[in-house]
Amino acid sequence: MMVSTIDNLIGLGLLRQPRTVLFGPGQRTMLPRIVAPLGSHVLICTDERMATTAEYRALQSSLEAAGIDVHLFDRVQPDLPRGDIMTLQADLAGHRIDVVIGLGGGSCLDMAKVASLVLAHGGDVRDYFGENLVPGPVLPIITVPTTAGTGAEVSCIGVVYDEERGVKVGVASAHLEPSVAIVDPELTLSCPPGLTAATAADALSHLVESFTDRAKNPSPEDLDAHLYVGKNVLTDIYCRAGIRLLAGAIERVVDDPSDLGARSDMMLGAFCGGMALNTAGTSIAHAIQSPIGGLTHTSHGMGVGALLPYVTRYNLPVRVEVFAELAEDLGVYDPVAGALENAKAAITRLDGLLDALGVPRDLKALGLSAEQIDDVAERSLLSTRLIANNARPLTKFDAVQILERAYEGDRGWWSL
Ligand SMILES: [Fe+2]
Repeated sequence: MMVSTIDNLIGLGLLRQPRTVLFGPGQRTMLPRIVAPLGSHVLICTDERMATTAEYRALQSSLEAAGIDVHLFDRVQPDLPRGDIMTLQADLAGHRIDVVIGLGGGSCLDMAKVASLVLAHGGDVRDYFGENLVPGPVLPIITVPTTAGTGAEVSCIGVVYDEERGVKVGVASAHLEPSVAIVDPELTLSCPPGLTAATAADALSHLVESFTDRAKNPSPEDLDAHLYVGKNVLTDIYCRAGIRLLAGAIERVVDDPSDLGARSDMMLGAFCGGMALNTAGTSIAHAIQSPIGGLTHTSHGMGVGALLPYVTRYNLPVRVEVFAELAEDLGVYDPVAGALENAKAAITRLDGLLDALGVPRDLKALGLSAEQIDDVAERSLLSTRLIANNARPLTKFDAVQILERAYEGDRGWWSL
């Protein structure tokens, strides 16, 4: 396979991944066999809806039939409020827990990571906000995603909402890497169309951002201190495979949500996105979405998806060759055309995939007002870690340019 080494002067490759990944329709039934060698007392973190499903009851029964004691926490909420983590800590005082299972969307998987952390090390989750502040190994974490998008099944970050301070903060550490990810596409068959679309747009953004990131050429000290190293030869493999999978499956899953083949491709593509972002890192679509999500109360996936057409256009001048490579994976490569034409064709095809998902075409449709643009631009720049991953530097002026184009839905804007 051709692997892009653009800007990657030291030829770096870096992956961080679960020890075991089990993928495939029906593989959730392997859960008791996977838990057994790790312990006999499990905590399952899920949400109220999932806990009432037949799939959940079957999983809990299969664990109990194998002699495993199950403690259920079924109150995980979107965005993971810190207060819920404190409630869980209080609930579990005096209980033995050997293994933590996250079952559900990204928040349930992230709850499993932070629960495993506070059960192992105690204290307030706030003590660990930031990068590399987890002092040592945590309880084994098993992730079982029920959406195809966040990549949280393989990532070593948990995002928590600190409601007292009004901010979303990440706890990022290689110690939070799940031990096992069980990725079963059958669990996404009941995912409603709106959530399927939002999570797919998120996955597409992870893949595009990781592939177009800056290569940071880190020193040994940087590698030791930081989790995200930008574009590299190993994440590129996942990015290209993931984009190919999503490009082939998005329209199919929109047409027929019961198409298990399309669901499998979506879930494998989203997994690839998680593998890529876990060391490359996401960038400015994620930085700009964060304040927009807070102001408009719209989903992370729809927000990053709505921004992606404008972020790709902004990055194009420094990423012509990279987007031209993606034209092959997106099925729009023209051998007669030049790199710039192929790059534009790739971006246009990405737009088409977002449109097929029903992602808002502009920020007006997302509920943002023109008066909020300046404030959003200002606050986007606070995500310095994400902005540092982007190939093209971003000033406040640049962020305003992107936001104004995205507000108007101006896809005729090519920042060249
Ligand atoms: Fe995301």
